[in-house]
Amino acid sequence: MKTVVIYGIEHEGSTYNVVQMFKNKLNISENDLTEFFLPKNMPHFCIGCNNCFMKGEEFCPHQEYITPIKDAIWNAELVIFASPVYVLRITGQMKALLDHFGFQFMIHRPNKSMFSKTALVVAIAAGGGMRSAIKDMTASLKLWGISKIFKFGYAVAAAKWEDVTEKKRIKIEQKIKKLSRMILLKKNKIKTNLKIKLLFLLFRMIQKKHGYIQYDKNYWKEHGWLEKTRPWKNPPQV
Ligand SMILES: Cc1cc2nc3c(=O)[nH]c(=O)nc-3n(C[C@H](O)[C@H](O)[C@H](O)COP(=O)(O)O)c2cc1C
Repeated sequence: MKTVVIYGIEHEGSTYNVVQMFKNKLNISENDLTEFFLPKNMPHFCIGCNNCFMKGEEFCPHQEYITPIKDAIWNAELVIFASPVYVLRITGQMKALLDHFGFQFMIHRPNKSMFSKTALVVAIAAGGGMRSAIKDMTASLKLWGISKIFKFGYAVAAAKWEDVTEKKRIKIEQKIKKLSRMILLKKNKIKTNLKIKLLFLLFRMIQKKHGYIQYDKNYWKEHGWLEKTRPWKNPPQV
């Protein structure tokens, strides 16, 4: 299964080790895996130039970092976003990355490939805040058009992976095994759900009626989405 992982941290701590467990249980081979570590692989904040919305994401001043991440996401069957919890949220660098992908929110220029992907969102904390961190990531993924988002939040009760007790590691592994089984079961049966379809139709109505950004409106027209074509029909093969 072609997979991309975006880590909201650079070091190989608890978040990294949890994702490695998923990688093993999901039988993801090295050939099928692309990993990005933040901020190393995208070290910039969005500067608010609006180029991505008005002219196209290729005009982002940080496109040399964004393009490889975007291509890997678009080409993957499984998209994994994994972040440690920092002050009850995702890390700042993860938020900075997600800001750069606002252009592919369904209200702007959704990518057709999103409608047939599976996502997994992982948030690892010492004690709490996993729920809000998971929400930070799923908010974007949903509005990109991804229907099936699996979630894994865990409090490891340690600052370092080395300090996570054997008992906790076994429990984590058991939970990951169970969730991986679900992911593998569903992976070839991804269908765009009603919520995403309704959101798309709402944004379609806005594009049709108003089309506030001409670049977005042209994109919708080119894809035939203002007529009868829908992005979840004839999904691209990845
Ligand atoms: C700046 C900072 C903020 C943190 N905030 C929280 C928090 O709000 N809640 C929590 O339970 N743990 C918090 N932690 C602890 C980490 O989430 C926890 O140690 C996590 O397992 C680290 O994952 P990692 O090894 O992948 O970096 C924080 C750690 C740091 C460095």
